[in-house]
Amino acid sequence: MIHLVGNWKMQLNETESEALAKEVVRLWAAQGAGKPGATVVICPSHMALEECAKAVKGTPVALGAQDVFWEDKGAFTGEISPKTLKELGCEYCIVGHSERRQHLGETDDMVNKKVLALLRHDITPIVCVGETFEERNAGKRDAVVIAQVRAALANASPVGNQRIIVAYEPRWVIGTGKAVAPQDAAEMHLLIRGALEEILAAEARERCSVIYGGAVDAKNLAGFLAMDVIQGALVGGASLKPQEFATMAEIAADAAR
Ligand code: PGA
Repeated sequence: MIHLVGNWKMQLNETESEALAKEVVRLWAAQGAGKPGATVVICPSHMALEECAKAVKGTPVALGAQDVFWEDKGAFTGEISPKTLKELGCEYCIVGHSERRQHLGETDDMVNKKVLALLRHDITPIVCVGETFEERNAGKRDAVVIAQVRAALANASPVGNQRIIVAYEPRWVIGTGKAVAPQDAAEMHLLIRGALEEILAAEARERCSVIYGGAVDAKNLAGFLAMDVIQGALVGGASLKPQEFATMAEIAADAAR
């Protein structure tokens, strides 16, 4: 299964999000809905989840959130619970995105709590990991990413229908329009798979996928998906362009065959 995940970040208001969700559904229905190998996920901001949930209901497009808190209920001002996300129809949730790590001080420990909370509600965490440019230049790329994977998935053990997606996103590439080479990404995917082998039992590992994120667009997606080890993409900027995103969904479906 190939996952194509659109991360809309804080780019759209509620009306714009609803319109984009409807457009993605319309184009994907026209271009390839029902192609079983690719799952298309849109991740609007929290305030647009309800309207987007209505737009994708009964369609092959799935809904995801961009963040979550780890408790179901309580005095946690400004947060949203996994229980609420579930009630809104979210099947996926991004956690540990580098923008949250950078601007909001999100730590590996927080990411881990969010992963465990999402699994309790059968929501698939899309766990972002990736090194900074400085870390890469200092030769710390592998150690940083392995440590993030280990910490994020500590005590996680998906069973039944539960799934975990790890998104390798080199932080210095996000939003630049210049992706790393597919071979570079594939090397990191293998490294992440190796880390998963160390921390998860075989059964749990089968429920994990690793995808690439960072400046993915309709031009370079096929190159990434040509690498067997890359099982999808997390897309920022290009996911806001409905025609381009639908083309990417088509490419993902073709790669999945
Ligand atoms: P980008 O963002 O595709 O705009 O580089 C990716 C992401 O932040 O997940």
